[in-house]
Amino acid sequence: MLIFINEELNQFHLTNKTVSYIFHVMKNGELGQLYYGKRLENQADFSHFGAYHIPTAASCHVEKDDPAFSLETVCQEYPVYGTTDFREPAISLRHPSGSSVSKFEYAGYEVLDGKERIPGLPSTFANAGEASTLVITLIDNLRDIKLKLYYTIFENSSSITRHASLENDGEHPIDIERLMSLSLDLNDHDFMMVHLAGAWSRERHVKERKLQTGIQSISSIRGASSHQHNPFLALKRPHTTENNGEAYSFHFVYSGNFLAQAEVDHYNTARIQIGIHPFQFNWRLNPGEAFHAPEVVMTYSDLGLNGLTQSLHTLYREHLIAPVWQKRQRPVVINNWEATYFDFNAEKILVIARQAKELGVELFVLDDGWFGKRNDDTTSLGDWFTDPDKLPGGIEALSRAIQNEGMQFGLWFEPEMISEESDLYEKHPDWVIYDPERPPSYGRNQWVLDYTREEVVDYLYERISSFIRSAKLNYIKWDMNRNITEAYSASLGQDRQGEFFHRYILGVYDLYERLTSKYPEVLFESCAGGGGRFDAGMLYYAPQAWASDDTDAVERLKIQYGSSFVYPIYSIGSHVSDIPNHQTLRSTSLKARGDAAYFGTFGYELDPNKMTDEEKAEVKAQIVTYKLHRTLIRHGDFYRLISPFESNEAAWMVVSKNRAEALIGWYKILATPNPKKIQTLKLAGLDSVSTYQVNGSDQAFGGDELMQRGLALPVEYNGVNQHQAERGGDFQSYVFYLTKNGG
Ligand code: DGJ
Repeated sequence: MLIFINEELNQFHLTNKTVSYIFHVMKNGELGQLYYGKRLENQADFSHFGAYHIPTAASCHVEKDDPAFSLETVCQEYPVYGTTDFREPAISLRHPSGSSVSKFEYAGYEVLDGKERIPGLPSTFANAGEASTLVITLIDNLRDIKLKLYYTIFENSSSITRHASLENDGEHPIDIERLMSLSLDLNDHDFMMVHLAGAWSRERHVKERKLQTGIQSISSIRGASSHQHNPFLALKRPHTTENNGEAYSFHFVYSGNFLAQAEVDHYNTARIQIGIHPFQFNWRLNPGEAFHAPEVVMTYSDLGLNGLTQSLHTLYREHLIAPVWQKRQRPVVINNWEATYFDFNAEKILVIARQAKELGVELFVLDDGWFGKRNDDTTSLGDWFTDPDKLPGGIEALSRAIQNEGMQFGLWFEPEMISEESDLYEKHPDWVIYDPERPPSYGRNQWVLDYTREEVVDYLYERISSFIRSAKLNYIKWDMNRNITEAYSASLGQDRQGEFFHRYILGVYDLYERLTSKYPEVLFESCAGGGGRFDAGMLYYAPQAWASDDTDAVERLKIQYGSSFVYPIYSIGSHVSDIPNHQTLRSTSLKARGDAAYFGTFGYELDPNKMTDEEKAEVKAQIVTYKLHRTLIRHGDFYRLISPFESNEAAWMVVSKNRAEALIGWYKILATPNPKKIQTLKLAGLDSVSTYQVNGSDQAFGGDELMQRGLALPVEYNGVNQHQAERGGDFQSYVFYLTKNGG
């Protein structure tokens, strides 16, 4: 049993082996939050958790004869503004009278076995028996508006999902100005806020700050979840580490504008909210219509940040990534972008593909430049027809030739964009997003297509599907290289422009949904100028994401470390590229680049024909290593060990669920003169009463020893020990493989 309900007290307790989430109906009919944290045994009555006893002369109170009952001083579940709470609300509606005061009172509940999908939106899913969903209905009787709050608790996860929907059963349209997917009042604010921020080529860097009185937030108003802020916010206790202590996280399953914030009030209550950004949002809900806010995954861990991560990874692997891709190996990729940029033809591509095949690569991806007259980034987006000058036999002949070599074939699209210099723009200038009263801004010489228009989505569906069919595509890289400016659609009318951003992303989801349901065997990789839209919404359709255009081994440590907080590592697109690196001009060894890229979906972004025989042999060996371990990388529990944000080293590991094997990546960025004599790396997640062999050596080490004392690192060069030193210099890296004895 996952949901306990005390009907007399109107109290709801969602619980499984690890967490408890409890709320109830308060005396005024609204919902009060009682507890969220480590699992509690169910009790008949938890209402004392919601005791309110802060009589304050300065507060407004709900009832004349109960001056202590103020919404300002109780923890709530889905607060409104306009009565006695002055913090930011979860919901704000504009009624026909102009008033924005609403009151949603409890009207009933329903429990569903499993989980229903949210219409038009990506979300986690679960079959009957795997999860239970509690649906609470609240009604604003004055206006006949129904608010439904959905909570799903899974049998085997410390994550609970939430979302909200609104139904207008009244006779007048209402305007939704704010509808957060989650609001949660935590009793104290003794937390560090952890989030993932960055920019192009340095995405998802880990940031931490202490929660302070007032509002602290992260957000995007760019039309995409963004390079700048991932829609993820975590709270950890000040002493919580990667492996110990309490932490909560909130992750939005959405790819458009979002707001995630923590508001600490004058009683040090922390109100967490996450949802569609209310800025530029206004949705007209006509009588008989419903609006669904996207889903949020909230997770609790008392096993540190790695506990949060493992819970999210497992949930996404089993309940978000499309079933057909959950257990499939990810092919080793070669992508021609950095090898050729726009300068290629069929012969050149075939030479790269053949050489890559010989080295063990399984999938060739033809990147930007194969269509229209696209010899640079100024033209042809939208003209999704093969450029006959580069590929006289069409994509079809190239794909056939590559598939005949025994490789899979994938193709790059940027379906949401249009070039000013394109046939599509000549034919459909009205398909561009722009404000008719002003000239449109440029970004990478391109404009964004208006995905609020069905005919635009239909056109792209037809173009992309025709290539999937004719060229038998195995893979598609879906890129998106600029954000939305002059957000306006003539098709929406003057009073509905506030719906633009959400309708845009619904259009993107619609295209993804149509393509992935019709062609489930095609592997999609999402991309947005690198990792500018790496989020759970995308992950639902595209089981892997190009993490960053920055493939420099050192920069990758930070990008992959940050991404790993939330995203299963087998969804993190990570490739070995050429040196000097095209983004940083840094040169690192092939070994360091491979050792970093193993912990993701592995591949290459270079021309293998330019390699020496020695390098080719090394690549061949890397691919063999990756193939040997990719099942472990896909299914294992991931542990971050040393943060590149806090030290000159980085380390992480992945351990199989049965603790029988583990793969460890250790990296040192700059050499240390006269380093410590004995250097060890403390591991995690091993079986403490078993012994392990490292890299197949005869010596066995206790799991407890490896976790408490650590794995001895190879001897480092110290200026005088050249006969003994096994490593030295900048950009050192090692990958260790552990096997359990008798395991
Ligand atoms: C940005 C992507 O992140 C790159 O990998 C590449 O596909 C280029 N776009 C192509 O224009």
